[in-house]
Amino acid sequence: MTKKITARITAVGAYLPEKVLKNTDLEKMVDTSDSWIVQRTGIHERRIADKDEFTSTMGVKAAQQARECISLEPAKIDAIICATMTPDYLSPSTASLIQASLRAVNACALDIQAACTGFLYALSLAKGWVESGMYTNVFVVASEKNSAFIDYEDRNTCVLFGDGAGAVVVQSEGPGLEIRHIALGAEGNLANLIQIPAGGCRNTSSAETVRDKQHFIKVQGREVFKHAVRRMEAAIKDCLEKTALPEHHINWLVPHQANLRIMEAVAKDFNIPSERVFKTIDRFGNTSSSTIPIALFELEKQHPIQKNENLVLVAFGGGLTWGASLLTKI
Ligand code: ACO
Repeated sequence: MTKKITARITAVGAYLPEKVLKNTDLEKMVDTSDSWIVQRTGIHERRIADKDEFTSTMGVKAAQQARECISLEPAKIDAIICATMTPDYLSPSTASLIQASLRAVNACALDIQAACTGFLYALSLAKGWVESGMYTNVFVVASEKNSAFIDYEDRNTCVLFGDGAGAVVVQSEGPGLEIRHIALGAEGNLANLIQIPAGGCRNTSSAETVRDKQHFIKVQGREVFKHAVRRMEAAIKDCLEKTALPEHHINWLVPHQANLRIMEAVAKDFNIPSERVFKTIDRFGNTSSSTIPIALFELEKQHPIQKNENLVLVAFGGGLTWGASLLTKI
């Protein structure tokens, strides 16, 4: 009988740009206040990429760090999946640019667009490829230069987002975080709640679309909020049911970092104490698809994950899309 392969995350890397944009800086740019931003979101500051840093270059730095952790030769990388909603170009894919910089000459490369849930969608593809036996070394890179798509005159969005990248290596062997289950969902009828309205084939770029600021991210925050908690809770329940894990066995909740109040509401539903909800939102804000791998990197740095500990990852974002995953340290 052939042995069942279980995919696991064997290495994690992250990259945050140096430049810090504080709430007090934003107070000088739009009609907002540090106390409004902190109370409504939990964000104190966020990182902003330099003008010559891009989604691909930040992704390369995170991926290099993960690669060096396990000393994997670039030629042994089988696949690079890049989750992003802020690609360098509409075409070619950002993953192709990352593949070239990593000199991963034997890797296939593609992008996945599921907004803030993109990392979990990409992780599910990596898990499937590894467990089917098709590939053994898959890189999942989540990277975003949100600042390139933010209107710094729009207080509804400019306070929320930051830039940054995270990367994980998914392999068939070795110690790491076993990916036990991933639950994904989408509700396309609500796609208009988080949008970059122009630049695609439906509303092509023109002087008018630039003048009307249609190339910036628009978010109907209050509406998104209503759906976020309910959908994330359902995805976590699905993971617990499929793995028969009681909720009191969750050691860490690593949620997408969009809003502190959303994270706390989800944690409360599963009786997870606040100190077991890993947060980076205060320092990095919402970096879309990359919040979860960045948080995994920071968690391992601050509280090394112990053998048999269970982590729940959960995300929600544009599309609308959502997902959760249960990982166990092996
Ligand atoms: N500073 C001061 N006031 C503000 C600001 C600001 N930066 N932004 C909005 N306001 C005002 C609004 O205009 C509104 O004023 P009004 O009542 O006079 O109309 C008031 O504050 C309250 O606005 P709400 O939108 O109701 O505020 P809310 O408590 O919902 O917080 C927020 C807004 C933080 C955006 C919240 O709704 C949220 O986090 N939503 C979820 C976002 C999310 O989940 N994103 C994930 C996906 S993102 C992705 O996929 C790319």
